Amino acid sequence: MVGVPTETVYGLAGNALNEPSVRKIFEVKGRPLIDPLIVHFASLQAAEAHVEFNDRARELAARFWPGALTMVRPTKATISDLVTAGLPSVAIRVPGHPVFHQLLEGLDFPLAAPSANPFGYVSPTLAEHVRRTLGDRIAAVLDGGACQHGVESTIVDLRDPESPRILRPGPISAESLGITMESAKSNSDRGAQAAPGMLTQHYSPNTQITLFDQGGQPNTVNEKDAVIYTSKPEASAPDNTFWLSESGELQEIAHNLFNLIQKLDQQTFTRIHIELAEDTEIGVAINDRLRRAAAKRTN
Ligand code: TXA
Ligand code: MG
Repeated sequence: MVGVPTETVYGLAGNALNEPSVRKIFEVKGRPLIDPLIVHFASLQAAEAHVEFNDRARELAARFWPGALTMVRPTKATISDLVTAGLPSVAIRVPGHPVFHQLLEGLDFPLAAPSANPFGYVSPTLAEHVRRTLGDRIAAVLDGGACQHGVESTIVDLRDPESPRILRPGPISAESLGITMESAKSNSDRGAQAAPGMLTQHYSPNTQITLFDQGGQPNTVNEKDAVIYTSKPEASAPDNTFWLSESGELQEIAHNLFNLIQKLDQQTFTRIHIELAEDTEIGVAINDRLRRAAAKRTN
């Protein structure tokens, strides 16, 4: 059980072909067994030994791997039901982070790796986040620095080549995948059923999150609240004001988002007000994670 850096978020990696190792991943995260894992391979060739590909999937692999695209494909018998939560399909990715990629190339088995956070909490984008939340339960964390993208991979369901569906928006946008925005949105609603792990309330810090519109202002800010803007405010700001980028650049907002939320969650704020991002490109993924973080807890 090792924490690994990826270009999206840190993962909690174990041998995907070894059941006790996979079981341990669920235990360490406190993750329910109905929530399937992503399997990471060193290359498309390595993945083809365990997963069925078609032309569309190979074409996307050629364009986006190694990288932040996860594909859901029919599985071959080598992948255990524990990894897929009994589904006939498996989520797979060839990651681009040089440290993780080098690790995969040195192994003769793929690595199952969910994000390396306790189930339901914000994903880690620094080795330090993994050490703080799971450090006493795992052997080591490979420190590969701050994750480039800062949000989890885009998950696309390619089982029906006629209508690919985005199950989770991420760094690779619907536009670049050739799926229109409109259908990407409605598909992500339907995806909630196809992917049992995509719970409405997820990615949540302990501090209550309230969102406000892009370009707007939070409603009522109490003395002990914090406010996060997507870009640096023009007027000088009080001490409880923070921002995710100087200029409002979406890549930078995504890169800084989870770290700032985790930092403020360590402090004593009673509520964090966060400005939504522009709803385009990686901003769609940012807003998806923010809405889930702000959703009312059901348990
Ligand atoms: O960027 C990422 O994807 C990171 C890094 C470590 O690779 N991993 C990650 O894994 O975010 P995790 O387990 O936190 O989220 C994976 C999501 C879950 O919501 C799960 O339900 C969905 O992928 N998933 C896994 N297998 C699936 C399948 N066969 N069909 C549909 N959804 C699946
Ligand atoms: Mg996760």
